[in-house]
Amino acid sequence: MAYEIDSILLTEEQLKQKVEEIGAQIRQDFQDEPIVLIIVLKGAFVFAADLIRELKGKVTVDFVMASSYGRQTVTTGKVRLLKDIDVNITGKNVVLVEDIIDSGLTLNFLKEHFQLHKPKSLKICTLLDKPERRKVDLKADYVGFVIPDKFIIGYGIDYAELYRNLPYIATVKEV
Ligand code: PRP
Ligand code: MN
Ligand code: MG
Repeated sequence: MAYEIDSILLTEEQLKQKVEEIGAQIRQDFQDEPIVLIIVLKGAFVFAADLIRELKGKVTVDFVMASSYGRQTVTTGKVRLLKDIDVNITGKNVVLVEDIIDSGLTLNFLKEHFQLHKPKSLKICTLLDKPERRKVDLKADYVGFVIPDKFIIGYGIDYAELYRNLPYIATVKEV
């Protein structure tokens, strides 16, 4: 099966404006308190790179790598932790940064995993939310766009490890 870009769902300009808005919300909520951003590789790296430049003060960044999809377009249901964080988050304000919440399994797993470290607070920030596809009850504290149940690519999000480099988010169609 081959796929190609169908239509642009979110333009560069829409993404830029939304990232600024989310940045402003996080700045407002944490004020001068230090925060640790945990970025979920690989998909969230582009969003997170733009988001951290909207933040001020003591911001620490670390990465976790989780994968549930592999090369499939449908979740396998099993989340694998491929890389854990190195920084100590005990007693810290933590924000988990994701590109998209779909079934919710990835973030549900990561949330439980990081709660064990006893952070002072643990918030979830996602650029995109597909609530129709939820398998577990999970809500994000910061949400960029609620989107319909369509397969999307770009701005960090892949199909079979391709298209992460697109500066916009597009839907794909089978050809
Ligand atoms: C995608 C996406 C989220 C997750 C969301 O990651 O980037 O991390 O799936 O799906 P869920 O809510 O159903 O768990 P993927 O597993 O494709 O890895 P990647 O980020 O490396 O592409
Ligand atoms: Mn991901
Ligand atoms: Mg993926």
